[in-house]
Amino acid sequence: MSAAPTSGPLTCRRAGPLRGAIEVPGDKSISHRSLLFGALSTGETRVTGLLDAEDVHSTRQAVEALGATVRAEGGEVVVTPPATLREPGDVIDCGNSGTSLRLLTGVLSGVPGLSVLTGDASLRRRPVRRVIDPLRVMGANLSARDGDRLPPVVVRGGPLRGARHVLPVASAQVKSAILLAGLFAEGETSVVEPEKSRDHTERMLRGMGVPVRVSGLEVSVSAARPAGGRVDVPGDISSAAFFLCGAAALPGSEVTVRNLGVNETRTGLLDVLRAMGADVRLEHLREVAGEPRADVTVRADRLEGTEIRGATIPRLIDELPVVMVMATQARGRTVIRDAKELRVKESDRLAAMGETLARAGARIELYDDGCAIDGPTPLRGVEVRTRLDHRIAMSMAVAQLFCGGEPVVLDDVACVATSFPSFFRLLDQVSGRAPGGGAP
Ligand code: S3P
Repeated sequence: MSAAPTSGPLTCRRAGPLRGAIEVPGDKSISHRSLLFGALSTGETRVTGLLDAEDVHSTRQAVEALGATVRAEGGEVVVTPPATLREPGDVIDCGNSGTSLRLLTGVLSGVPGLSVLTGDASLRRRPVRRVIDPLRVMGANLSARDGDRLPPVVVRGGPLRGARHVLPVASAQVKSAILLAGLFAEGETSVVEPEKSRDHTERMLRGMGVPVRVSGLEVSVSAARPAGGRVDVPGDISSAAFFLCGAAALPGSEVTVRNLGVNETRTGLLDVLRAMGADVRLEHLREVAGEPRADVTVRADRLEGTEIRGATIPRLIDELPVVMVMATQARGRTVIRDAKELRVKESDRLAAMGETLARAGARIELYDDGCAIDGPTPLRGVEVRTRLDHRIAMSMAVAQLFCGGEPVVLDDVACVATSFPSFFRLLDQVSGRAPGGGAP
């Protein structure tokens, strides 16, 4: 029995139902922050449950380039910060990781010296003006390719002054980049968002002793150095989503994901599952290291279409590709609006999922900021261009479960390693398939 390939093409041939209890790897957003904030701190940071995946490796390499050391000790990862962050000796390659690049742009704006941040072909197509413009207001010296629109980003760190920023879109990456620059700035820095995005930065900085003021949609900080401390990373709901959505739509399924992060800025998916008629249960709800977590069980039920828009969108933005897959199996119309941000993720996810699901037989209409999907529709096997986008690859591996036994061929699954290297193994496990369950 061969293991599923980790790069190159993969033919998916699984059948449901999905059954079992699993844990998914650590939350990606919290993992990035634990390494980065640990590197800015006065003392050591000890992390348990850190996501071991390429995006987080990119942040690790970056903080090492700035003088931090990161080492495994027992079941923990220990971050030891330098006395002061140093100018990196080389270009920092953020790989596929937008979070690394945007958060580091904020930090490096306040670190004396020259830094250059770049990434893979996907990341070099993603907008950076959204961080450059507000950081410039604070006095940061930044430039980027193509009229400051795209990476690489060049940062000449120097003195910063606080400012109040009103963001046109809810973005945790932009909010966090600004707040991190604010830790180096004179005076107060605040960010006002149109809707609330994930608040892991606010929670972790507080946990590390930084006074973070939150008033409605406004978050403020002043110059401070975090103290470091302990971080315990819960499972990533964005990774669990593939199993929860698959289980909700595939008759006879029941999946439990243990120790799953259920911070309310991330649980839009659970609200949508309930609105569509899935049976969702939370048990052992508890808070550890400032982040709530629970064991979440989803049982298949007859799903109905729903409408997903407004303040819910930032609360499930990364889950929308697999929600689109699930919507093809729901009775009636599912409408997604206000989700234009999907077009500037690791790929244009509206275009990618719209085009791919349509070829698989879904009834889908695309809008500039979302889509409408009519169901239920049996899908058929397709060939998928994964476009360096892990969530397109994993969403279409789930879509294959609804293809009546026909295969879905993913052209390159290397991207899955950016967030979820054990994805195919876990999918084999819950679909009752022997390991390696890709090829015929
Ligand atoms: C993230 C924020 C989100 C999300 C991304 C991770 C973060 O992007 O899509 O995968 O860790 O801050 P936004 O900047 O659009 O909120």
